[in-house]
Amino acid sequence: MADLVFLDGKFLPRQRAHISVQDRGFLFGDGVYEMIRASGGRMFEPDRHLERLESGLRALRIGVGTPSRYDLLEIARRLLEGNGLLAGDATVYLQITRGAAVRRHNFPPDATPATVFVSAATFLPLEELRHRGGSAITQPDTRWSRCHLKTVNLLPNVLAKQAAVEADVTEAVFVRDGFITEGSSTNVFGARDGELFTHPTSNHILPGITRAVVLELAAEIGLRVRETPILAAEARDLDEMFITGTTTDVLPIVRLDGRPVAGGVPGPIALLLQERLAERLEGPTRPLPLREVVA
Ligand code: PDD
Repeated sequence: MADLVFLDGKFLPRQRAHISVQDRGFLFGDGVYEMIRASGGRMFEPDRHLERLESGLRALRIGVGTPSRYDLLEIARRLLEGNGLLAGDATVYLQITRGAAVRRHNFPPDATPATVFVSAATFLPLEELRHRGGSAITQPDTRWSRCHLKTVNLLPNVLAKQAAVEADVTEAVFVRDGFITEGSSTNVFGARDGELFTHPTSNHILPGITRAVVLELAAEIGLRVRETPILAAEARDLDEMFITGTTTDVLPIVRLDGRPVAGGVPGPIALLLQERLAERLEGPTRPLPLREVVA
């Protein structure tokens, strides 16, 4: 099957897509990205993802030659189609950096075009793990104070996830000042006495799209929700703990730092939210008339 990607205005095979050694994404991690889920060729919550991408670009003042939201959606749609991903599960990856220029920390000359890269790949949901439940370790949250921006500067996340892999667990959960912020690539929820807890949106977490959808689903189900951080020391007393994300969906966490959470089995709230999220992922809600809007 073709593996077409989009780089700087062109569709081309992945092995022919090359970035300049002067690209500021490479030199400084000076860029933002998004990961969007697609099911049966239909992207999940594309507007929310692109809104977050645009707000990141605005915050970092990257703007020269960046495609419109509708162009990005059309590019993504063409990649899904061109790579045979109109059936089954897939992910679309978008990355925009401040472009290529002589290495200086300050911004490059005004006319330097942003580097725009989009790709699509097949995706295998973690079915078995989702039913059995995953495990996590805690890691100190050593990240900067603008974690709400989805920048490609992911070194603390990379190191935390590697620590998780070496500890043979599913995810690393960051702890800042004693409180759980989020996972290395997920948001974290807890449940106690029928009430749901998660860190409030702030500069210390990424405002996850799955997190936002899960909060909507919780409201539909009639769960009480408190957007308040969970104390790491109290996490094992929760009735349930789970993580959410584009490539994770809702994943119960049944062991934390080697000890069982919530009796070591997935809880009913996580399983119900998992089911409702799967319906939203597959369902025909919010169809996007892509061809019309880009015409
Ligand atoms: N990561 N927190 C962090 C630090 C993340 O990197 C992610 C997503 C999330 C969940 O956000 P969302 O529900 O919008 O996917 C939370 C993506 C999947 C990644 O880096 O690959």
